[in-house]
Amino acid sequence: MSILFQQNRGLWWDGDSFHFIEQTLLPFTEKVIVTRDWRVIVDAIKRLAIRGAPAIGVSGAYASILAFREAKGEMNQWREWSSLIAKARPTAVNLSWAIQKLLDASDQFEGNPEDAILATANKIASDDEAMCEQMAEHGLEVVPEGSSALTHCNTGFLVTYGIGTSLGVLRRAHEKGRLEQVYACEARPLGQGARLTMWELGRLGIPGTLLCDSAVGRLMQDGKVDFVMLGADRIARNGDTANKIGTFQLAVLADRFHIPFYVVAPSSTFDPAARNGDDIPVEYRSDEEVWKYQGNQVAPAGSGAYNPAFDVTPNELISAIIREDGIIKPPYRF
Ligand code: MRU
Repeated sequence: MSILFQQNRGLWWDGDSFHFIEQTLLPFTEKVIVTRDWRVIVDAIKRLAIRGAPAIGVSGAYASILAFREAKGEMNQWREWSSLIAKARPTAVNLSWAIQKLLDASDQFEGNPEDAILATANKIASDDEAMCEQMAEHGLEVVPEGSSALTHCNTGFLVTYGIGTSLGVLRRAHEKGRLEQVYACEARPLGQGARLTMWELGRLGIPGTLLCDSAVGRLMQDGKVDFVMLGADRIARNGDTANKIGTFQLAVLADRFHIPFYVVAPSSTFDPAARNGDDIPVEYRSDEEVWKYQGNQVAPAGSGAYNPAFDVTPNELISAIIREDGIIKPPYRF
């Protein structure tokens, strides 16, 4: 197993090939895929083998580099393939944002466009890593001494080029002795909390407690949560925030119990074209993901299913948004 995997990296580029942890196999099988084929990355994004907003932005950028190399200087071919990469998943704006940055770089550069787009992809990755550290530093300010956090989905090193978004904050807070433990929602239907967050917490030595998504009201009523901290897939100009399905109900419950509700996201997750949550496209996924859990059928064949992958939390339920440039409080005007 690669040294970078041992150092808790979820994805990396070696100058020639792209490496990523096959997230669908976690927590039981730790497998790294190495590829020079952009189609493998697109397929991985669609299957959620690579997932999480910043990670799909960085992976999309390197997929586009691989597409460029395959296109052998045919710019129209490269643009067509890059637009397919940008459409692999619709909600996390980081993906289309990253591809647009590469297209802009190729337009503005005189000389070999590969140099420009490779430099841009590398910058997207290194900026992402740096932004994670900056968010963690700012986020520490809101973590009370000896506290317990509730998080949702998976927001750690698997989903960024660095330490993560909200899990990055929680990781640094635990290292500094401020944070005692993390409660993690299961995040059905695909179990990113159960499979991935619990796995990351274990690797990092952070005490973690798993709960079913439906147990959150009781957890808060029991007084066990000091604050909620989670990530985002797209944030509109007014602060409305799309994130993993279930986030909205967590925000409503946090409001009911006067528990601070924090979103941690880098600037690449903010969409200047979205005026509010109505402008955010929400991905709906297959019925099968609801009928089955980890490949096992849990509902009668032929049952109907409702499977939005994300919901949108209205800005008035968000206590603050933690970005690489600081802690932003309402009213939000991005
Ligand atoms: O469908 P997923 O697993 O890609 O959803 C991911 C999330 O909702 C994360 O919380 C989000 O990307 C923010 S953290 C990087």
